[in-house]
Amino acid sequence: MIKVAPSILSADYVNLQKDIEKVDQGGAEVLHIDIMDGQFVPALSYGPGWVKAIRPITKMILDVHMMVEQPERFIDQFADAGADIIGVHVEATPHIHRALQMIKNKGVKAEVVINPGTPVSAIKPVLYMVDQVLVMTVNPGFGGQKFLPETVKKIAELDELKKTEGLNFDIEIDGGVNDHTVVGAYQAGATVAVAGSYVFDADDPVSRIKAIKDATK
Ligand code: DX5
Ligand code: ZN
Repeated sequence: MIKVAPSILSADYVNLQKDIEKVDQGGAEVLHIDIMDGQFVPALSYGPGWVKAIRPITKMILDVHMMVEQPERFIDQFADAGADIIGVHVEATPHIHRALQMIKNKGVKAEVVINPGTPVSAIKPVLYMVDQVLVMTVNPGFGGQKFLPETVKKIAELDELKKTEGLNFDIEIDGGVNDHTVVGAYQAGATVAVAGSYVFDADDPVSRIKAIKDATK
């Protein structure tokens, strides 16, 4: 069964605590927090202050997805705010090894992220040092986009590398995830599923978390 990570990008910001408590009690293991800088992606979202505010209200794993150019500038701030996992895009820095090292030095789990157009080979040299790989299943920047099925073969490739190279990391998918699209990704080796609009645009977010889990039993 896959772990579910609702993305607060699609939550009700005015009633954020209510939405977070709902998915927490509804069986989600991880809370996905999308950081957008208006440069790596067109939109702006929120910063470390949000992570700091959320930290005391839930025990869920706080998974910070940095869609930020030169993420090195903000890693310490997100770590100090209480992030459990920090993800950096390989496309956003010429120094991905250093960025991941910075995350690990803060005692936080390190995640590397690849866009749909980026091959697995681009992150192969750093796979030994990560706790999680995030395979984007849409081009990052917005919620509510359509899942790109061609990304699934990269999940399978990563799963194979885990076995052949004796590596140990979670494989997370993000973008267009619902109870249908999650199935092939899960079969290919995904272990964590981010879901934003599918969970929070529903009248009953808990039933959507359950539907994702039921589809991956
Ligand atoms: C997209 C973000 C996602 C987003 C997913 O750039 O990284 O985490 O919230 O939204 P849905 O699940 O609606 O595609
Ligand atoms: Zn995300």
